[in-house]
Amino acid sequence: MTLPIAVLVSGTGSNLQALIDRIGEGVLPARITAVVSNKSDAKGLARAARHGIPAIALPPADYPDRAGHDAALLAAVRDSGAKAVVLAGYMRLLSPDFVAAYRNRILNIHPALLPSFPGMHGQRDAADYGVTIAGATVHFVDEQMDHGPVVIQAAVPACPDDDAASLGARIMTLEHRIYPQAVAWLATGRLAIHGCKTRLAPADAPPADLSDVTPCLVNPPLEAGF
Ligand code: GRF
Repeated sequence: MTLPIAVLVSGTGSNLQALIDRIGEGVLPARITAVVSNKSDAKGLARAARHGIPAIALPPADYPDRAGHDAALLAAVRDSGAKAVVLAGYMRLLSPDFVAAYRNRILNIHPALLPSFPGMHGQRDAADYGVTIAGATVHFVDEQMDHGPVVIQAAVPACPDDDAASLGARIMTLEHRIYPQAVAWLATGRLAIHGCKTRLAPADAPPADLSDVTPCLVNPPLEAGF
């Protein structure tokens, strides 16, 4: 069972690279049918091309209005043969028509523990707020921005000296772990949506080794006696 996916990017595409790498390693049963971007100069497009993946630029300025751009985006994704859509740093809200066409088959990754800090600057907003735990969320996409049933979240410590860059780098390490995992769950039919919640069907797989990242549920750490 290999899921054909289209990946939408606007920037660097490091999450795209994580998906490409896990597919190459044979642990993610997916095939990337196209990488589509609203930015012609997105590094993610060049990354796709280097890996022989069709890379399509659809700059909004080439279309008379938002509806026209959204229709072209949907056509490009459909024509690629994708059965699901993976947003990997795609910085535009999808139209209701697009969401309806791929309902419950669109995933997004956001660099904050949703529903906290939605929007363009999740890491910066979390750092500025002074939270002590930050993280990343993979969720199904609905019509609202950074909203929909949560699939997986990962938490990292945040420190008073953190800024968007330092906190973002810590979060990114885990983004690259959890996004391929979430797409693999989608590809193998393990995810079911019940209302606002996602249920994951169990598997026999052993837990991953996370010893190279800082596991954190409570930060600062509790001290003896508590
Ligand atoms: C990531 O932080 C992701 O969570 C957010 O956009 C960023 C994309 O980074 N949605 P990259 O292009 O995958 O490197």
